[in-house]
Amino acid sequence: MENIISIKDVTYTYPESKKPAINRLSLDIYRNEWLSIVGKNGSGKSTLAKLIDGLIESETGTIIVDGQEVNEKNIWEIRSKIGIVFQNPDHQFVGATVEDDVAFGLENQGIPRDEMVKEVDAALKMVDMQDYKTRDPQSLSGGQKQRVAIAGVLATKPSIIIMDESTSMLDPNGRKTVLDLVKQLREEQNMTIISITHDIEETELSERIVVLRDGEVVQKADPKAIYDIGRKLTNYGLEEPFSSQVAYLLKDELKLPEGYLNEEELIENIWKLSSKM
Ligand SMILES: Nc1ncnc2c1ncn2[C@@H]1O[C@H](COP(=O)(O)OP(=O)(O)O)[C@@H](O)[C@H]1O
Ligand SMILES: [Mg+2]
Repeated sequence: MENIISIKDVTYTYPESKKPAINRLSLDIYRNEWLSIVGKNGSGKSTLAKLIDGLIESETGTIIVDGQEVNEKNIWEIRSKIGIVFQNPDHQFVGATVEDDVAFGLENQGIPRDEMVKEVDAALKMVDMQDYKTRDPQSLSGGQKQRVAIAGVLATKPSIIIMDESTSMLDPNGRKTVLDLVKQLREEQNMTIISITHDIEETELSERIVVLRDGEVVQKADPKAIYDIGRKLTNYGLEEPFSSQVAYLLKDELKLPEGYLNEEELIENIWKLSSKM
């Protein structure tokens, strides 16, 4: 597997803080994978995203993005390859209409007007918001706002998209539409997706999960292997997946198989076992 991002021995301490927010962290991210970064509040997830995007500068080590080291000289080229979607859907709109907003990221790129219109339409179509083109972004629901924000990022055709808790302020419906969209992007586009979350349930469809604690990588594996950690996930400030919590509560009633079961597998096992009772 080819690396798109290599982080080696990176440390960052905020000026007003004594403790490093990221502490001698190394991590390889593969081209076109969907990587989840999880960890409780303050574990360093957003700081890591800022380091990758060159918004802050590491004190030690190196970060290579798509063959280029993150430094002052390469910063604009690197940023053009990375799209970030943030947490608060209300803090990322600049346009008076949905289409203006999506066009904003393209405006600095010197693209002719008619081509820009096409790109904006295509991006809105990808997130299924083409019917809202002329609407005021502020009139949309949270999930719709995040989809427009994602369209703005997609229009610039990044090879890496970082979603920093982009679903955390959404209701279950909004959350689902954004997650479905990520899943669809994963299938249709050549794109590396880094999704940062503190909700373990959102990681199930990603290929790998990295767990951060105190600015360090403490676990790194595929979702099933991470969920197998079970109760101990709470050591990292994370909740167990819902199906594991249910399985735990049923452990005295039913002889469920060892290890993580997703909701479907859990239901299947409950059916099988209870029909024998
Ligand atoms: N602007 C800042 N100034 C000082 N300390 C900060 C700042 N932003 C984050 N921190 C500290 O850095 C650590 C990591 O924060 P952050 O990367 O935001 O974590 P997460 O995104 O996982 O919640 C925390 O201890 C946090 O208090
Ligand atoms: Mg954060």
